[in-house]
Amino acid sequence: MNAIETKNLTKIYNNNFIAVNSLDLDIPKKSIFGMLGPNGAGKTTTIKMLTCLIQPTSGQATVGGYDVQKNPDEVRRLLGMVPQQVSLYKDLTVMENSQMCADYYGVPQDERDSRIEDLMELVDIKYAKDKRVGQLSGGQKQKASLVASLVHRPDILFLDEPTIGLDPTTKRTLWDLIRELNDDGHTIILCSHDMHEVDMLCDYVGIINTGNLVAYDTPQGLKDSLLEANRHEITDALGKISEESDSPTSSRDDLEDLSLKKMSVLLKNNDERIIEKIRQSTNLKSVEVARNGRINLRIDSFDDMAVQNVLAEIMSLGGIITSIYTEEPSLEDVFIKSTSEVNEDDRA
Ligand SMILES: Nc1ncnc2c1ncn2[C@@H]1O[C@H](COP(=O)(O)OP(=O)(O)OP(=O)(O)O)[C@@H](O)[C@H]1O
Ligand SMILES: [Mg+2]
Repeated sequence: MNAIETKNLTKIYNNNFIAVNSLDLDIPKKSIFGMLGPNGAGKTTTIKMLTCLIQPTSGQATVGGYDVQKNPDEVRRLLGMVPQQVSLYKDLTVMENSQMCADYYGVPQDERDSRIEDLMELVDIKYAKDKRVGQLSGGQKQKASLVASLVHRPDILFLDEPTIGLDPTTKRTLWDLIRELNDDGHTIILCSHDMHEVDMLCDYVGIINTGNLVAYDTPQGLKDSLLEANRHEITDALGKISEESDSPTSSRDDLEDLSLKKMSVLLKNNDERIIEKIRQSTNLKSVEVARNGRINLRIDSFDDMAVQNVLAEIMSLGGIITSIYTEEPSLEDVFIKSTSEVNEDDRA
């Protein structure tokens, strides 16, 4: 069963603006799902509907099998939420805010304070447990909000940009915590603009643009599909250029360059003689030696074996390879491609 299912889920705000447009979205149980999208895409609005903070205008959504409109109490009991804007009571302390959340969710009294203190230790905010939330720094508020939303160990946890403003160490602690919670069977829905975070943590990624789901796959699946789409686009464009005999050759070269796989190697024996031999390879479109000694290669083939063939060739020429990296499309490339074609009227 899916943890979350939406069908034609729609939110039209009072000003007749369609923030979420007939969204069909399934999030498998026990997965980490990344929700990406440009500012104003409708991510927070979707999360607010799924967490029963606002009513959908039309369509359905179930969370843990419960309908958000018919059974909001059951839905609320299942979920935890770290909102984009911290929503704790400013005049209460970190401890008091967490205790209030724990009591609301019926956490047993004899476990309550020790659970809170364990979580505080985990995200390193225990030192400020008796400070009022209004007096905390941005990152400290974020940590306090995390403790309060995790204290009842929710089955389904919504995190709306949870690592914004966190220092790198705390960020890593939170990533570990997300993984641990997921290993224990919790479903996590993570909204983030940090592509590295999403790529590294998430099992599935959905990209939302102007209230519509424009892409949904595993992070690797999305990157592979971009490579595939580029390949088709470029092959088509090359076909057109061949048909138009008066096309300048430079545009053909530009397109071919775009389609090439890029790779960079560092050789122990980085001398002119071996580089000259590599330059003669028929598998390579270009060979450039950077100032730091890296040899940047563009591989003249889409073949899955191309990288391996080039490496084998360099080794057979006597090259001693000490480091390699290949450049593949990133999740950021997928994001930019999937969200670039937007009608400006849809964003107003
Ligand atoms: N209460 C509201 N009344 C009217 N319009 C709203 C309201 N809340 C949000 N919107 C509009 O709905 C759209 C979606 O907003 P939402 O907060 O869901 O975006 P988001 O994807 O979370 O963006 P971000 O990445 O900036 O957090 C925006 O254009 C916003 O202006
Ligand atoms: Mg948002």
